Amino acid sequence: MTTEQPADRTAALPTVGPDGAVDPAADGVSFHTRKWVKPEDLNANGTLFGGSLLRWIDEQAAIYAIIQLGNHRAVTKLISEINFVSSARQGDMIEMGLKATHFGRTSLTMRAEVRNMITRQVILTIERIVFVSLGEDGHPAPHGYTGITYHRDRLPVQHRDSAHDAGR
Ligand SMILES: CC(C)(COP(=O)(O)OP(=O)(O)OC[C@H]1O[C@@H](n2cnc3c(N)ncnc32)[C@H](O)[C@@H]1OP(=O)(O)O)[C@@H](O)C(=O)NCCC(=O)NCCS
Repeated sequence: MTTEQPADRTAALPTVGPDGAVDPAADGVSFHTRKWVKPEDLNANGTLFGGSLLRWIDEQAAIYAIIQLGNHRAVTKLISEINFVSSARQGDMIEMGLKATHFGRTSLTMRAEVRNMITRQVILTIERIVFVSLGEDGHPAPHGYTGITYHRDRLPVQHRDSAHDAGR
């Protein structure tokens, strides 16, 4: 039986220490999602609408937080200053990257970066996106994690069960 190995991209991800702080020397961002800029994503200037981009990032951050915190009840708490560095045009392909920068008691802080895949120009940076893990009562609940997982071992249990039922 072969054991699944982590994908190459994990080599670029940072190391998280026991206190939850990330080693700043390892500043890699792991890009997980790509998008194609379509007509419905444009603003009146004919370039990518910031609201579309933020919706994509919030969804991407939610998925990442759910996997890292092992809890589908993970909600956006804070999005810090957003720097729209450059824009994208219809037909451009962009890639969105997230990096966990701090594991708190009930929270997870991430950094986001979006790039144009063709020009490699940075489109946007967000230094801090904070998600909070909630309990069944809707209040913040300790997640118990201090570092990044590179596997699917923290998928919320009910999702893991349905994957098992489907024979996956
Ligand atoms: C998420 C929510 C339950 C947190 O409530 P709260 O009273 O702030 O909870 P706490 O004070 O216990 O803080 C919970 C965590 O959030 C962190 N936090 C709270 N306010 C913060 C802020 N302004 N910036 C960064 N982190 C913050 C705390 O440090 C704590 O993290 P830790 O446990 O890792 O140390 C509440 O604010 C809420 O329901 N917000 C709406 C969430 C939502 O619906 N988001 C979707 C978009 S509308």
